Amino acid sequence: MATPFLEIDTVSKSFGGLKAVSDVSFSMRRDEIVGLIGPNGAGKTTLLRLITGILKADTGTVSFKCKKIVGMKTWDIVNLGIAGTFQNMRPFRRLPIIANVMVSCLSPRSMKRGEWVKRVEAKAMDALEFAGISDMALEKASTLSQGDLKRLEVARAIATEPELLLLDEPFGGLSPAETELMAKSINRLHKGGRFGRLHSEGPAMVIIEHKLQQLMKIADRIIVLNFGNLIADGPPEEVCADKDVIECYLGEGGK
Ligand SMILES: Nc1ncnc2c1ncn2[C@@H]1O[C@H](COP(=O)(O)OP(=O)(O)OP(=O)(O)O)[C@@H](O)[C@H]1O
Ligand SMILES: [Mg+2]
Repeated sequence: MATPFLEIDTVSKSFGGLKAVSDVSFSMRRDEIVGLIGPNGAGKTTLLRLITGILKADTGTVSFKCKKIVGMKTWDIVNLGIAGTFQNMRPFRRLPIIANVMVSCLSPRSMKRGEWVKRVEAKAMDALEFAGISDMALEKASTLSQGDLKRLEVARAIATEPELLLLDEPFGGLSPAETELMAKSINRLHKGGRFGRLHSEGPAMVIIEHKLQQLMKIADRIIVLNFGNLIADGPPEEVCADKDVIECYLGEGGK
């Protein structure tokens, strides 16, 4: 039997009286792209933050390759091979774009082959190229548009060479053409192969998205949250036809 990859077991998180994530359980394989959907406020970002260690679950466990990671520091979780992008982006605004990514390349995980400055710079450049903003490498991060900031987030995450990549609305703020490009990049990254100095094996992914049409094209499986509860988990076509899922979206105005 294959080693379990990511396992979420009855995880809950409350903010004051509000249960943002309620007894959620699911597991995923090393080769999957899982789409995480649900109306605004359903608990998607909170669930992702519980996996990256930014938030600590009140109850339940999160295990990555059989290791319990609840309560571990984000930095240590990155070194195990999990990286994510934020819904609210937080670049080092006064630093050049390439320096933002070089910081990720300096993680012990990414430096394990004893690389130093020139190679770190080249690797950061590969990540920027992957994300499609290498021509802006020397501009300050503060000059980037929303869409390009999104790309910088992705570049920073993949520069840590994750085995599990968590993307919070990677198409958010992107035009239809940019969305198409980003979807292609995500597929290419997941398939693996050589990309400069990055990734021989593509990472598993959890992708939160409101742009459902685009998400359905790249996800192998869809998980739906509503008011903190997991209400569906299955192949895209099955989940789209699910009565509870349709209802929770229609209740929101059919987004
Ligand atoms: N740090 C926090 N403090 C208090 N409440 C929070 C905090 N983070 C999230 N919440 C609340 O928890 C609920 C779930 O929020 P979350 O951001 O996880 O939703 P989401 O599914 O990502 O929504 P969206 O699609 O709008 O991004 C919301 O009601 C939100 O207001
Ligand atoms: Mg969110």
